[in-house]
Amino acid sequence: MQYFIKSGNPEKQRVACVIVGIFDRRNPTEAAQAIDRASKGVIAGVMRKGDMDGRIGQTLVLHNVSGTFCDRVMLVGLGRERDFNENEYRKAHNVAANALAATGSIDAVNCITRIPVKGHSLQWNVQQGALASEEAFYRFDECRGKKNQSALQNRKLERLTFDVSRRSDLPTGERGLIEGLAIARGVKLAKDLANLPGNICTPGYLAQQGQDLAKAYPIKTKVLEEAQLRELGMNALLSVSRGSRQPPKLIVMEYMQGARNDQPIVFVGKGITFDAGGISIKPAAKLDEMKFDMCGAASVMGVLAAAAEMQLPLNIVGVVPASENLPDGDAVKPGDIVTTMAGFTVEILNTDAEGRLVLCDALTYVEKNYQPSVCIDIATLTGACVVALGHHASGLFSNQANLTRRLLAAGEQVGDRAWELPLWEEYQAQLKSEFADFSNIGGRDGGSITAASFLHRFTRKLHWAHFDIAGTAWKGKAATGRPVPLLAQYLLNFAASKQGGLKIRSSETG
Ligand code: BES
Ligand code: MN
Ligand code: ZN
Repeated sequence: MQYFIKSGNPEKQRVACVIVGIFDRRNPTEAAQAIDRASKGVIAGVMRKGDMDGRIGQTLVLHNVSGTFCDRVMLVGLGRERDFNENEYRKAHNVAANALAATGSIDAVNCITRIPVKGHSLQWNVQQGALASEEAFYRFDECRGKKNQSALQNRKLERLTFDVSRRSDLPTGERGLIEGLAIARGVKLAKDLANLPGNICTPGYLAQQGQDLAKAYPIKTKVLEEAQLRELGMNALLSVSRGSRQPPKLIVMEYMQGARNDQPIVFVGKGITFDAGGISIKPAAKLDEMKFDMCGAASVMGVLAAAAEMQLPLNIVGVVPASENLPDGDAVKPGDIVTTMAGFTVEILNTDAEGRLVLCDALTYVEKNYQPSVCIDIATLTGACVVALGHHASGLFSNQANLTRRLLAAGEQVGDRAWELPLWEEYQAQLKSEFADFSNIGGRDGGSITAASFLHRFTRKLHWAHFDIAGTAWKGKAATGRPVPLLAQYLLNFAASKQGGLKIRSSETG
């Protein structure tokens, strides 16, 4: 799909479809009014007959509307004008894109981007329009047989133009489009990786993906193999991969486009390509969904791709500890004690609490090899997080209030929200072990908090945040690509604030 920004009269567009919004109670937007005038009342007439009243989610496609140059006009319901906000705006784009894909249109002009949304700029309008449209167009057919693939792929739509009100809006619109498409690219990469089954997307496959990123972008990738992990003393990570025939990998990706001495932003993503629980084996129901236990890793790769697409002038590092978690005669057992890279001994009381084991060594690797300005890990870490927050918000933990604030704000901005949970020291007591420094489980109560508290023991020296995405990384049987939008927006804001800072300094000295 190709996307464009344009400023023109809706009724004069020579395309297969022009998309305009209608507020509830048959209240047309400016673009809809323009078409109504050109057609001498066709839209008002249709609404009078009761076919469209502007409720959110409604669409109606009209053909051969007189006085226009397009094949179709699509009316999209927006709900009540005074209630129109971020959610309705995104919903309208999503519904419009879905309905558009169902027509035979090869190109379209979408005027929904013209509609003001309270508290947001035109740049945001276009960014979110592009993201919502790409969301609607996404399909995952890689694993269908040849015949079914061609049947699914004969979509006609090739070009989508977002309309803005004034010519002077074009540069802002372009900027929003670049951001939206870059973030969408990252989201798509994360979804594609996550949707692949565990027999294809193995630790080795993830490592190859890391290498592929290095071919596509100014990224340097190195993959640490099992022997190197042993030398580094990453015994917590190695305890998880013991039960698997797939060798573990530590994938390290560096995107260093910032100033030479800028401390990097480091992302660490849980890359369990299948989590059967190990010897503490999981029940069979929904076990297929544990192929999604590498969604943290996928989002790290996604956010690197998005940053590279936007050519952000930042230093960003992605680290992915990748392994399977399976039962086996050689697998780690409940009660086994391992020494982590950081030197702590951990009693593994439940082999299904493996995410924190691979992450703790990866976090120590980051602490020893980089001086990150911030370190953010992303993991499908606990079922308890789904109990606490459901599927709408990712769990967020951080030892730095400023970082929390920025991350929460970025999530609000792009509609990929997180909610803070506490990291209080009181919870640490639940991790006590009879034999080792501490254990890898903290009991049922506050399960996501004790998991985060486990990680916190390895991140005391870092400005650190942890996302538990167990409830948000997939929906039904499909990956969502979350929290790539949140993280990409965080990076965008970070880059903007740095540039803002520079500007202030130069005006002071000038
Ligand atoms: N990958 C799971 C967490 C998970 C479960 C995510 C269900 C999404 C849906 C993780 O490795 C795990 O098994 N966690 C255990 C921890 C427990 C043993 C302390 C859990 O949540 O039950
Ligand atoms: Mn597990
Ligand atoms: Zn897991």
